Amino acid sequence: MGITAIYPGSFDPVTMGHVDMARRAAAIFDRVIIAVYDTPAKSLVFTTDERVAMAKTALAGAENVTVQSFSGLLVDFARQVGALAIVRGLRAVSDFEVETQMALMNRKLAPEIEVVCLVSSLPYSYLSASLIKEVIKLGGSAEGLVPEFVIAALKQKYAGQGDAAPVPRWLTG
Ligand code: PNS
Repeated sequence: MGITAIYPGSFDPVTMGHVDMARRAAAIFDRVIIAVYDTPAKSLVFTTDERVAMAKTALAGAENVTVQSFSGLLVDFARQVGALAIVRGLRAVSDFEVETQMALMNRKLAPEIEVVCLVSSLPYSYLSASLIKEVIKLGGSAEGLVPEFVIAALKQKYAGQGDAAPVPRWLTG
């Protein structure tokens, strides 16, 4: 038996902030399922399979942590896997508003599931997957903020994308 929690997100890509959060949740709950949402309302760099594979690799050492993708409502997935809690990370005050909104909606949809927010560890409290993507895309260093293999995967995705597009003929006369 025991309590299963899900830790949902886009994970595009998984960061050390996510890894820290999943490990901390795994110390509280009997099982933690990292739930990778397949169609978030944002432009993605990685496919669902890639995001799942990267999260699996990043949490490979954590025995009671597994990774699955889901589509549709989060609470439906939670019920499907028998989770009693949804874990979310709070980085800054700005997260609070969004997370409260989502938590209240999720509670309306599934009152039996509790939303548990953990405050991010200080070194990762300014971290976001989108900032990491921007930094890597522009040639900066994200060392220590995402696993090494994620840096390599991002560099590979962005390789060649920085080349200037050819100037159209009609512009040059
Ligand atoms: O990493 P993110 O992008 O902050 O994660 C957001 C996520 C995936 C947790 C949220 O968008 C979500 O739960 N999506 C599933 C669809 C759903 O249930 N929407 C209603 C949420 S109140």
